[in-house]
Amino acid sequence: MAWDPSCYLRFGAQRLRPAAELLARVPLTAPDSIVDLGCGPGNATRLLADRWPLAELTGVDRSSEMLAKARRDGPDAGWVEADLADWTPNRRFDLLYSNATLHWLDHHDVLFPRLMAFLRPGGVLAVQMPRNFAAPSHVLLRDTAASGPWAAQLANVLQEDPVGEPAFYYGLLSGSASSIDIWETEYLQVLEGEDAVLNWVRGTALRPVIETVDAELLGAFEARYAERLRAAYPRRPDDGRTLFPFTRLFVIAVARDETPGN
Ligand SMILES: C[S@@+](CC[C@H](N)C(=O)[O-])C[C@H]1O[C@@H](n2cnc3c(N)ncnc32)[C@H](O)[C@@H]1O
Repeated sequence: MAWDPSCYLRFGAQRLRPAAELLARVPLTAPDSIVDLGCGPGNATRLLADRWPLAELTGVDRSSEMLAKARRDGPDAGWVEADLADWTPNRRFDLLYSNATLHWLDHHDVLFPRLMAFLRPGGVLAVQMPRNFAAPSHVLLRDTAASGPWAAQLANVLQEDPVGEPAFYYGLLSGSASSIDIWETEYLQVLEGEDAVLNWVRGTALRPVIETVDAELLGAFEARYAERLRAAYPRRPDDGRTLFPFTRLFVIAVARDETPGN
C-alpha cells in the first residue's frame, strides 16, 4: 500500500501527541540502541532522537514514500525498508518503540512475543495503537465498502480488527516481561474544516480504498462515505468544528532477564 506523507501529516499535531505520551512512560534512562518500528515520516523518531541524542537510532518502515520523507526531514538515523511481519534483526536492542503502526499488522499473538525476543534483558517494547475499529468512522467505512459498485473490488481489502483488549496484551507478554504498563486514552479530537473526519481517514484507514478502487468510482465512494460521516460526526453549530473521539491503546513491557538465577 502506498502512503502519502503530506496527507498523513495534515493532522500532525494530533497524531504526534500519543507518540509523546507513549515516550514519556518509557522507563529507560540511557538506551544505547533504539528502533522505531513503522517510523513513517520520522516525526516520532525525532522525539526519540531528542530524548536520547547519543543512542544508535534506526527507523524501519515498509513504505518507500514514508522513508523518503524521513530521510529528508527526519533526525540522524539509519532508515531500513522492511516489512515488520518478517523483519528479523541479527542483534538485540534496548528499546523497540512503535507509534500507530502495529494495528496494520495481523496475528498479534505471534508478532508481540516475536518482538520481545529482539530485546536485551531489561529492554523495553513500547507500543501505541488505535483501538477504534468499532468507531463510526471505521464501521461506516466497512459498510460503504460492502455495498456499491466497488464492493467486488474491495471484497478482501479492508482489514479485520487485529487489535485485542488490553488484557489480551497482558496475557501475551506477562511470561517474558518483568513489568507491564497498559492503558487506554480516549482523545476528544477537535478537527477544523469541512469533511474533517474524511480528511483524517484519507491519511490512514481510507488508504487501502484509495489504492484499490478505480479512479472513476472513487469520487462516488468518497461522496457516499462523506455523507454518512457528516451525519455521524456533525459540525458543531457554534464554532463549525468537528469532534472526533479516538481511542488509543498503550502497551509498555520490560523484557525479563532470562539468565539462570535471575
Ligand atoms: C500511521 S503511520 C505511523 C507513522 C509513525 N510511526 C508516526 O507515529 O507518525 C503507519 C506506518 O506504518 C507503516 N507500516 C504499516 N504496515 C507495516 C509493515 N507491515 N511493516 C512495516 N511498516 C508498516 C506504514 O508504512 C506507515 O508509515
